[in-house]
Amino acid sequence: MTTISVIKADVGSFPGHSRVHPAILEKATEMLRKAEGNLITDSFVTHCGDDLELIMTHTHGEDDPGIHKLAWDVFIECTAIAKDLKLYGAGQDLLSDAFSGNVKGMGPGVAEMVFEERASDPVLVFMADKTEPGAWNYYLYKMFADPFNTPGLVIDPAMHEGFVFEVHDVIDKRKVHFSTPEESHKLLAYIGAPSRYLIKYVYRKDGLIAASTSTQRLNLIAGRYVGKDDPVMVVRGQSGLPSVGELIEPFATPVIVAGWMRGSHHGPFMPVGLCDANCTRFDGPPRVICLGFQICNGKLIGPVDMFDDPAYDRVRSKCNEIADILRAHGPFEPHRLSLEEMEYTTLPIVEKELTDRWEPI
Ligand code: 13P
Ligand code: 13P
Ligand code: MG
Ligand code: MG
Repeated sequence: MTTISVIKADVGSFPGHSRVHPAILEKATEMLRKAEGNLITDSFVTHCGDDLELIMTHTHGEDDPGIHKLAWDVFIECTAIAKDLKLYGAGQDLLSDAFSGNVKGMGPGVAEMVFEERASDPVLVFMADKTEPGAWNYYLYKMFADPFNTPGLVIDPAMHEGFVFEVHDVIDKRKVHFSTPEESHKLLAYIGAPSRYLIKYVYRKDGLIAASTSTQRLNLIAGRYVGKDDPVMVVRGQSGLPSVGELIEPFATPVIVAGWMRGSHHGPFMPVGLCDANCTRFDGPPRVICLGFQICNGKLIGPVDMFDDPAYDRVRSKCNEIADILRAHGPFEPHRLSLEEMEYTTLPIVEKELTDRWEPI
């Protein structure tokens, strides 16, 4: 069995929350290279905006203490570099000083998947900055449940039965499974509220794993705003799963997500190539990159920078237009997040300060 673990953290960036420093990328690459042939089979290090992304393959399964410790050690070493260079938010996503066996709940985002390699196994790794894990909900629904996006659901008999979505409620800490197409409407009733209900896994009806996402919500773990939980996702394609083209097609339509500027604004989710994975305008707009690999006996063959393509120029241009429209709202909703979402950020502090000033009407 092959495991893919994508573990990410913002350990400090420059300038401000724009991007990861090359010295950090170098350090992380070097540390993972050393572990290759030993603990891990292969690795690839990259960044999306200010988030350091570790892509690893190995044979130890999900939640392996050795793999999580390796990632944690990389983040600690890279935090030291960030501190030396006085980068912004050094160690931002590391909520604890001591590793306790699993990075989940300690700040980093984790998407892992274990599978038996098929004769040929294309895997896409999606990584985002300035948004929240629920941002994947819309896209996963389009990929695995919408025949207008994925004709394979109609044309390929292997997909005819549909898919099972595991949805997590991150507020009440519970999970549920929905079968599509039969329960599409029930599924949408939940996942249309992506700040609370997150798709964690997607399986084919026969149990084949198709997608896995990070569902960590930093502010819910830390109890205060400490940066957004910029998410990652691993998706398999082809041969009875949506084709690679069907998997990236939903990103050709502009969608508005939460997490821009101070984690408190809505903005367009812009698909970009690696060279543009730097958050600039108003600390954004929210960005997503996608690296495509073939998995060969645990080796990562690739990557291909999937959104570095003129075919995505038009959606980027539309995203820029939406960014102008939302920015014109200044501090008003719907650019600013709803009150409910702001509850997890700064509003309670303002509310506390003003308690005595409010009078009954
Ligand atoms: P598979 O059935 O092998 O996934 O091929 C479908 C395809 O690639 C169409 O674009
Ligand atoms: P990050 O969550 O990407 O660190 O961004 C925080 C922020 O406040 C950007 O404006
Ligand atoms: Mg940051
Ligand atoms: Mg970030």
